[in-house]
Amino acid sequence: MKQLQYQCDALIIGSGAAGLSLALRLSDRARVAVISKSQLREGSTFYAQGGISAVLDAEDSLESHIEDTLNTGAGLCDSAVVRHTVMHGREQIDWLVRQGVKFTTETESDGSTHYHLTREGGHSHRRVIHADDATGKAIETSLDQRARQHDNIDIFEEHIAIDLITGTKLGIPQRCMGAYVLDKNEHRVKVMRARFVILATGGASKVYLYTSNPDVSTGDGIAMAWRAGCRVANMEFIQFHPTCLYHPEAKSLLLTEALRGEGAYLRLPDGSRFLERFDPRAELAPRDIVARAIDHEMKRLGIEYVYLDISHKPPDFIRSHFPNVLRSCRKFGFDITQEPVPVVPAAHYTCGGVMTDLTGRSDIDGLYVIGEAAHTGLHGANRMASNSLLECLVFSEAACQDIEARLGMADEIPILPEWDESRVTDSDEEVVVSHNWDELRRFMWDYVGIVRTDKRLQRAKRRVDLLQGEIEEYYGNFRVTNDLIELRNLVMVADLIIRSAMQRHESRGLHYTLDYPRPDASRPPRNTVLIPAAYLPQDADAHAGA
Ligand code: FAD
Ligand code: SIN
Repeated sequence: MKQLQYQCDALIIGSGAAGLSLALRLSDRARVAVISKSQLREGSTFYAQGGISAVLDAEDSLESHIEDTLNTGAGLCDSAVVRHTVMHGREQIDWLVRQGVKFTTETESDGSTHYHLTREGGHSHRRVIHADDATGKAIETSLDQRARQHDNIDIFEEHIAIDLITGTKLGIPQRCMGAYVLDKNEHRVKVMRARFVILATGGASKVYLYTSNPDVSTGDGIAMAWRAGCRVANMEFIQFHPTCLYHPEAKSLLLTEALRGEGAYLRLPDGSRFLERFDPRAELAPRDIVARAIDHEMKRLGIEYVYLDISHKPPDFIRSHFPNVLRSCRKFGFDITQEPVPVVPAAHYTCGGVMTDLTGRSDIDGLYVIGEAAHTGLHGANRMASNSLLECLVFSEAACQDIEARLGMADEIPILPEWDESRVTDSDEEVVVSHNWDELRRFMWDYVGIVRTDKRLQRAKRRVDLLQGEIEEYYGNFRVTNDLIELRNLVMVADLIIRSAMQRHESRGLHYTLDYPRPDASRPPRNTVLIPAAYLPQDADAHAGA
């Protein structure tokens, strides 16, 4: 039976800080839908610990935040974007406070109170505002509650977007008009139409075997935009967080950089500190340097982890600043007030993504990309800690203003082709999906990780080509499932990462290769921009387009 096609003004795909803040901002003027492939709260935002960087202290300055961001970005930040983002920091914090987010305060001896600001790698001042050590939970919970109360926001949980629907002319995508979305409860693909579509789908760190990210971080938005015809940039710059708990059952447990900001040390098994040998800023050097130093020592000594140690600080201080880290580590038998804990680096953040301008517009009319899925130019070759949530908020505000200004002018969306399942059947070989999923994540970890070489990248490329062929064939023959959709996206994003890494014949920021161990000084730093080779018409797809 034919279903009515849903329609709204703005279809927001993703419900993290980027997606929900945009929904709340737009919903006074527009009918908004938020779709989320799991529960609304599930995404990297919920797990953010350290906080949000913003210039809030009288001793700090916008110029200093800008300079630190540019330095960390290793020559590839877009300075206009950095300035724009940093300048809007304070107003974003004020906005979050109005949404009900309670940031940690401290009281002075004279009775005055102010926000407590912590410090993280790359920052030359204390400028990270936080809600204890669970900032993301405080933000996401407030935004989730607000969004659910709003009459103009339709929420679709357990709905996973498969592909964007674009109108094309001579094979060139002209306008984004909606998306095909799998309702995971009803096992049915819906057509969702919108005058504006916003990808706020987060990063792609699940492409690696070890990651700090939740399961939903599978790069879906980047893959969908690429398939639709958008350029992507700087995908080789994958950030590895230096300190995730090393424990067989501690899946993706991050130990916040704020621990080092408040004085924690990294130590080798003999108890010695080692980071001064790599950078004068030691534990507070930017993440690329710290993660590489750990990787180097692990390989040099043949050890499986190093230690993070804050036990020299008073237990009360640790309990009050890091209650969640303390509780989480206890579950695995470690007491951070008494002992060092074993840590390893893990994939954490996708610096590259879909290319956008200052308003979040992508290459396709009507399609915006915000948050971790976007490449705005803020992070360059390495993101500075706590600049990500800030970017989510600043660009959701910019996209909101741009969309609002265009609402009166945007065309109505016609009825779109239904999803076509006439040529596919239910899968009889789920093992193909689970096997390829594991294989992909392992070779990405082994060959495209913290330290790369030409040979390793070539090996990875051969494997990813093979997997892409197999997965596309499988996708063409069987009904879509959540796992298949994610795997198809992961393998595509892996390919984009490998191709970008192969193009960069130097080491810069997060991209380190033994074959070119230094930055290329012979020419100005450049972004790696991948341009879609050819636009695939919708009817070349086994599913889409009747
Ligand atoms: P997310 O919050 O990841 O949300 C993505 C959303 O998209 C999810 O709702 C997901 O379900 C949905 N989605 C994805 N694909 C689809 C699809 N196909 N269909 C439907 N829905 C889809 N940054 C900081 O600035 N400060 C910190 O302290 C900090 N700490 C961090 C700690 C951890 C453990 C992690 C993992 C990250 C941390 N980061 C931090 C990074 C930061 O949290 C993320 O970059 C940021 O939250 C990304 O927000 P987002 O809205 O872009 O995406
Ligand atoms: C952390 O708390 O260490 C994560 C901060 C970030 O990724 O910005």
